[in-house]
Amino acid sequence: MKLRELKLFWIDNLSHLYDDREAGLILRQVWEEMTNHGSLAWMSFQDSEVEIDLSPQLEMLKKGTPIQHVLGFAEFMDLRFLVNSTVLIPRPETEDLVRHLIVSIPQNSSVIDIGTGSGCIAIALKISRPDLVVSALDVSEEALSIARKNASDLGAEIEFILSDILTQPSIGEFDVVVSNPPYIEDKERKEMSLNVVEFDPELALFVPDGDPLLFYDRIAKWTLGFSKRPMLTFECHIAHVDKVKQLVTSSGWHQVDTLADITERHRFVISRS
Ligand SMILES: C[S@@+](CC[C@H](N)C(=O)[O-])C[C@H]1O[C@@H](n2cnc3c(N)ncnc32)[C@H](O)[C@@H]1O
Repeated sequence: MKLRELKLFWIDNLSHLYDDREAGLILRQVWEEMTNHGSLAWMSFQDSEVEIDLSPQLEMLKKGTPIQHVLGFAEFMDLRFLVNSTVLIPRPETEDLVRHLIVSIPQNSSVIDIGTGSGCIAIALKISRPDLVVSALDVSEEALSIARKNASDLGAEIEFILSDILTQPSIGEFDVVVSNPPYIEDKERKEMSLNVVEFDPELALFVPDGDPLLFYDRIAKWTLGFSKRPMLTFECHIAHVDKVKQLVTSSGWHQVDTLADITERHRFVISRS
């Protein structure tokens, strides 16, 4: 089958999940990756026979498997992060948080990323700001092993900590605490798209009903035990951002702001002191 024909076949087979344009782009990504062709080859190979069998990838995609799990990696801040079902697929909006951190953290600060998952925040930050001393914590051993592998593949020196932040662990003090914690109430599960609920780990997403700010509250309380109030930086559900701001303000931070992501939706809470 020619590449042009294969594209129509994929569009047809994926129409229950993706529009024509998305299905075409997904095939392009898979084809480029599996054939090692660069991004310029796609147009010139349209009338060439496809010599590689991409049906295993198509079968996975038809079942709703995210493209990142099909390929085994996700792009984040122009870096490749290994991902699997034990870590949240890094989201593009989280890149805005990292960009903010890169320009705003003072030189030589110590930073901890709580709930590091694939390690995307901690690793991208360390790569752009080698002066920082970066630690990354997660309660999931499986997630940490992916994060460790990503740090080693990308050459980022990070201290990884296996711990449950809800137990207020004694792991030292940090100048900056960043977190994109779980914040989706269990009851919201039924309204979510299948490829999030089925393929992202539960541990990364959900908090008990009635307690969407659980992690923000516990992290803020945990840092109150530090000798100096750290810079606190959170990613939030857009519906919770004002409540998280209020929570952080009532916990004693003075300079508390919200920040919009690239889609102009306020999603981040930044507190300096
Ligand atoms: C929303 S994901 C964020 C992953 C990554 N930082 C990112 O932005 O893509 C939340 C992470 O928190 C971790 N987590 C859940 N409960 C935790 C706990 N009690 N203590 C520490 N980490 C926890 C999950 O394993 C998951 O990796």
